[in-house]
Amino acid sequence: MLILGFESSCDETGVALVDASGTATPRLLGHALHSQIEMHQAYGGVVPELASRDHIRRVLPLTESVMQQAALPLSAVDAIAYTRGPGLAGALLVGSGVACAMAMALDKPAMGVHHLEGHLLSPFLSADPPEFPFVALLVSGGHTQLMRVDGVGRYTLLGETIDDAAGEAFDKSAKLLGLGYPGGPALSKLAHEGDATAYKFPRPLLHSGDLDFSFAGLKTAVLTQVKRLAHARPEGPATPQLAAQLDRVQKADVAASAQAAIVDVLIKKSVTAVKQSGLKRLVVAGGVGANDLLREQLNAECARRGWRVHYPELHLCTDNGAMIALAAGLRSQAGLLKPESGEAAYRFDVLPRWPLSALSDGVGLS
Ligand code: KG4
Ligand code: ZN
Repeated sequence: MLILGFESSCDETGVALVDASGTATPRLLGHALHSQIEMHQAYGGVVPELASRDHIRRVLPLTESVMQQAALPLSAVDAIAYTRGPGLAGALLVGSGVACAMAMALDKPAMGVHHLEGHLLSPFLSADPPEFPFVALLVSGGHTQLMRVDGVGRYTLLGETIDDAAGEAFDKSAKLLGLGYPGGPALSKLAHEGDATAYKFPRPLLHSGDLDFSFAGLKTAVLTQVKRLAHARPEGPATPQLAAQLDRVQKADVAASAQAAIVDVLIKKSVTAVKQSGLKRLVVAGGVGANDLLREQLNAECARRGWRVHYPELHLCTDNGAMIALAAGLRSQAGLLKPESGEAAYRFDVLPRWPLSALSDGVGLS
């Protein structure tokens, strides 16, 4: 079964073709991605209307490129998957509109996929795919969750952030250091030059006894430190000029210390979650899963305990179409897709706010 997948929930247009025939682990046949990062950089963050318009411009050329890579005509596709949510409504509508129109024209089913389920299952496209059951640490720009995963569609939430996501903590700290958008990769790069013990930033809920996270306080602590280094008034506003007062070493030390605080909490909570689950397998997914310090420390912790840890391929950590086609493929192999007929099959509505837990009840799945 050949599945074409579209991802357009935020600032990346992703298209991919996955072969999910029989019961074999799905295989990636073609994959194309356009990142809008450069376009949004001028504004310091994603501008939703610009994102939607750019998805429109990119989606068909990317589709052509994917079909060329696979050396197959569009008519060979058996089903078309798209990100139905969560994400920016206008951006989601581009992917869902194109996917449903294409599916209708080809007389093939269209499948709405949950973006986080895509991230969660993305390690199945890696050279070292996991086996169920496992504990998953899902760390993206909008979500930070620990989950027990017993199979496709069988997800139990163990804990999550009560305020900012881990990716947001990276992005906001980076912004305070004048590192631009998206901040995670830039902050992580600068942190290599810094001293992670230079500043002691808070590690909230570290000993709370549950598996929840809180990252909002880190942003305030980083701001306070930046103001101190810039000799600015503590009660003054957070302006872009503050970071300009810091030299490179100061910035690198703040970056390294902030990264250490975020990673420390992610590691400790993940280890507790795996211990409590009684399982011996951890899967990390989402954009922050690309962070090298997180990978290095998780690898060491898991090796020490005799646990396995799995990641998506680096280029599939952040948003992409492959994880969407893959999630549809795995759902279809698990017999979890309920294809609708007639117009209902192509209604292309989107769910900008769609909790992953709703998937267990079949909410939002067609
Ligand atoms: O999963 P993703 O591409 O998009 C969402 O679904 O949110 O994650 C994007 C997030 C951003 O916050 C970005 O700064 C962060 O992942 N990120 C990183 C790294 N690469 C991406 N954070 C830390 N270190 C990285 N190397
Ligand atoms: Zn994502």
